[in-house]
Amino acid sequence: MYTPSSLVPKLVPFVDDQVWTARAPLRFYGVPMGSRMTVCRLADGRLWVHSPIELGTIQAALDRLGEVAFAVAPNFLHHLFMGPFVAAYPRARLFVSPKLVEKRPDLPAEAALGDHPPLGTWEDTLDQAPFRGSSLLDEVVFLHRPSRTLILCDACMCMHRDAPLGWRLLGRIGGIYEHYGPPLEIKLTFRDKAALRGFVERVLSWDFDRIVLSHGDLIETGGKEVFRRAYEFCL
Ligand SMILES: [Fe+2]
Repeated sequence: MYTPSSLVPKLVPFVDDQVWTARAPLRFYGVPMGSRMTVCRLADGRLWVHSPIELGTIQAALDRLGEVAFAVAPNFLHHLFMGPFVAAYPRARLFVSPKLVEKRPDLPAEAALGDHPPLGTWEDTLDQAPFRGSSLLDEVVFLHRPSRTLILCDACMCMHRDAPLGWRLLGRIGGIYEHYGPPLEIKLTFRDKAALRGFVERVLSWDFDRIVLSHGDLIETGGKEVFRRAYEFCL
């Protein structure tokens, strides 16, 4: 999934009336990685928003879907548009990754994301698991149970063949060219293999078939096998 800088974000259904995504152009150290926001329907009909992008024209589309109840910044890198998002949705409750509590004290976060959904939030609809074993990545991954969708951020990404040559080469170096997995710069931070294996096994115990991820094409089926292959080196 190459995200050209001319892209105008749109909120697109991924699973009918359950999950929507929106891509946005975003450069990370000059690399046009793009990013993706995910919106999930909760059991009570309200909305849960993962890794918000710059809202712009998609705010009206989001408002048409329902009430935004929660916003989540899933790791210490995906927070750039959280300030404007909570300004646009001041009634939404915000939860952030552990490192963001210190990195972004300006955000009105209620708490850091942990092993389980905070009580009285999204536990009826979503499960969650903190990434373990990395000295860098503090990501929390999610399972939207009604749609059997795993929601990932930087724990797994893919650089596709539609990207410009230079970025394809970088993807090859990072081990993510046409391959879903953690990029080399994240992989090099895996210090505790037992903890990593525990995280991977917990995710593999979930019932999912689809994967939404921030950087790479969406996976509509076979997602569990894709995730297992991405982390088979630690199993
Ligand atoms: Fe990212």
